[in-house]
Amino acid sequence: PDRYQHSQGVGRLPQPILLWNRKASHTLRKGSEDKTPKKRFSEVQEERREQAQRTVLIHCPHKVSEKKFLKYLSQHGAINNHFFYESLGLFAVVEFARKESVGSLQSGTLMPHEAAIPFRSRFLSLKLKNAGGQPSEPPSVRASQQLPPSSQRLLERLCRAESVGDQLDTLLQELQLTEENVRLRYLTCSLIEDVAAAYFPDCTVRPFGSSVNTFGKLGCDLDMFLDLDEIGKRSTPKTVGNFLLEFQVKNVPSERIATQKILSVIGECLDHFGPGCVGVQKILNARCPLVRFSHQASGFQCDLTANNRIALKSSELLYLYGALDSRVRALVFSVRCWARAHSLTSSIPGAWITNFSLTMMVIFFLQRRSPPILPTLESLKALASAEDKCVIEGNNCTFVRDLNKIQPSRNTEPLELLLKEFFEYFGNFAFNKNSINIRQGREQNKPDSSPLHIQNPFETSLNISRNVSQSQLQKFVDLARESAWLLQQDGEGGPAPAPRQPWGLAALLLPSVRDSRSLSKKQNRRPASERVKSLLESIKEHNPDSPTATDGK
Ligand code: GTP
Ligand code: MG
Repeated sequence: PDRYQHSQGVGRLPQPILLWNRKASHTLRKGSEDKTPKKRFSEVQEERREQAQRTVLIHCPHKVSEKKFLKYLSQHGAINNHFFYESLGLFAVVEFARKESVGSLQSGTLMPHEAAIPFRSRFLSLKLKNAGGQPSEPPSVRASQQLPPSSQRLLERLCRAESVGDQLDTLLQELQLTEENVRLRYLTCSLIEDVAAAYFPDCTVRPFGSSVNTFGKLGCDLDMFLDLDEIGKRSTPKTVGNFLLEFQVKNVPSERIATQKILSVIGECLDHFGPGCVGVQKILNARCPLVRFSHQASGFQCDLTANNRIALKSSELLYLYGALDSRVRALVFSVRCWARAHSLTSSIPGAWITNFSLTMMVIFFLQRRSPPILPTLESLKALASAEDKCVIEGNNCTFVRDLNKIQPSRNTEPLELLLKEFFEYFGNFAFNKNSINIRQGREQNKPDSSPLHIQNPFETSLNISRNVSQSQLQKFVDLARESAWLLQQDGEGGPAPAPRQPWGLAALLLPSVRDSRSLSKKQNRRPASERVKSLLESIKEHNPDSPTATDGK
């Protein structure tokens, strides 16, 4: 499959390196905007990377005593942070204050003998010498949640919100990556880097995509790429007189073949020696070759690519857009969730629209507001300084990286209005003739006949949604119109919704008229009130002791 063409200890973390302000953005908008200087993408990446290198992952027996466990580990040095989570078993993520502690811990760790391929990784198992011991001690460990809440719980929360804007914020708070989950993502990359370093010492494995671009939802895949560029930068060639030394390297016919060969050996390596890496698949003929595997201990589905600097740059661009205005992420999360609820997106590659394309559509829409909520990529390029200059494989990827140099928008439109207008805008967009282009921030004539054309921001001759079929686009348009209409009804203050009836965003996430028609043509469609009633019944069944949300709207 071609990845791009189908594309598709809790609470004990004192000083998190926050990617974004976790407090409801809603609250911020009401009062003063957040004035704290925002970190550059590269700063966040470096801090997280360094933190991950001081961290270990430990599989623990369920009856472990947290206190004794920490005491045992702290003989190797001070522990900054830790948390537990459940995946296939109980795991602890332990961050030491100093990197040396990890070395000390590894020196005191036993290498199992039977049929084990020796590998001194940072993924360990805790054994209790006296398994039957500590019977009187109840399990003291609280596990942090790494998966999104159930749709029942989510709908219930949404129904209890005060307004549609509040619902968008609630959705964001419920689904966004938590501090612990972000740590686990960087740690997983760091553990994979240790395996890859067996072949390529000094390589770097960097996360990209929704794990780092601020649009990641709990449970999303972990995209990572193997960066070998740093290896070349480690030496400063010295020319003395007539002499210069160069490394002997093996030449291959093209960069693509080099990437395939590199990924092929790393794939083998992960498959044979990577602790906890299972289901390794090499998908080397895709436009962007990759190795896909599941990292069992973290529970992440991982996609490892190589030579993928442009994708990292687009993650940086999205990070910047996500950080510029607190409404961006709330809107993107809702649109992505809406698309998923109506099967507009899928985890299976095909003619579906992708989350990446949806994010571009939201950014484009926000550039089109008056006054604009987001600047165009061209204007971000105009703000760039000499150090921001970046050319990758002949593509100019330059834009300003210091968020604090960008003027905040004067637009004050509420989220509720923006969501409705988003659906209206794309419900009426001339997809047949126009292309979406965040570089210019305006519609342009489509250069080809693909149903949906969204210009790749950096490789401008490419269409990121080339895979989308006419029928999928039509489904998107129909659902957008229907959703705009539903929100319009809400806004007109028609009959107040009966208590506990899904309304606003919650109603948009329910199966639509269209969906139920396509589900069963023969079956007579039940009236909306009935559908809503049965949904509520199921919510009640699943949450027998949840408070009733009579404060609906
Ligand atoms: P999720 O659906 O949450 O995984 O979102 P994602 O943004 O991580 O998307 P995905 O895992 O499909 O792709 C990871 C990254 O690869 C994206 O963030 C983009 O930077 C890049 N990418 C994905 N699709 C395309 C594409 O069609 N063209 C290009 N140039 N880059 C893409
Ligand atoms: Mg992804």
